[in-house]
Amino acid sequence: MQELNDALCRDFADTVNKKSKSGPTITLALSGGNTPGMFFRQLASWNEENKTSRIDWSRIHFFWADERCVPPMHPESNFGMAHSSLLSSIELKPEQIHRIRGENNPASEVERYSDEIMDILPVMNGLPVFDQIFLGLGEDGHTASIFPGRPDLLQSGNICELVRHPVTGQHRISLTMKTINNARRIIFVVTGRAKSNVIAEIADHSSTSEQYPAYWVRPVHGTVEWYLDQQAARLIT
Ligand code: 6PG
Repeated sequence: MQELNDALCRDFADTVNKKSKSGPTITLALSGGNTPGMFFRQLASWNEENKTSRIDWSRIHFFWADERCVPPMHPESNFGMAHSSLLSSIELKPEQIHRIRGENNPASEVERYSDEIMDILPVMNGLPVFDQIFLGLGEDGHTASIFPGRPDLLQSGNICELVRHPVTGQHRISLTMKTINNARRIIFVVTGRAKSNVIAEIADHSSTSEQYPAYWVRPVHGTVEWYLDQQAARLIT
């Protein structure tokens, strides 16, 4: 796990400090869940530990790939997790943070967040282009809040959609698959044995993999990379 987070942090620093094609800033969309927490905490102390390759935090605009419809400091908030593990430890201007306002009326927040994204990001194929999107993977193959059995979220031409969690019924707001696939770069960060079967099926393009939304993450003009620990990668042939 430490090796994985080291690699992720080095890549993050390289990406942010390399001249981005999109000009002086770089737009990142973060995912939630538990996996990114260690990575974010390690990033928070990067500049203290790496004097020669300091991250220029002033160039980053933070967005989210999805969010639970809860207040920002609610224990289930993806923004709240990123804030406590990273954002509260680095110097950022408020205008660099573009959180999904989980405390708002969900339907109106879908519109507001979509407008905010379109105000800032360049557009290609009629959709915004994120420089980089970090994604996680659920044991059911979901990513962001695109769950199995929701082909509408794979086909939607909207920037984001209102979703209900299939088990808890919790409202969530998620980027759609077309918006995700319009990114310049997509990075999956997945750890743990529990996801190794889904990862192996997706890697092998097995007949069962099409049921997993993560299988449909295929950037139209960018790249997708998987950062896995040994447990998550154990079944890949
Ligand atoms: C969310 C995430 C979701 C997450 C996966 C993996 O809002 O929950 O965006 O897509 O990345 O469910 O979660 P874990 O890292 O907790 O396994």
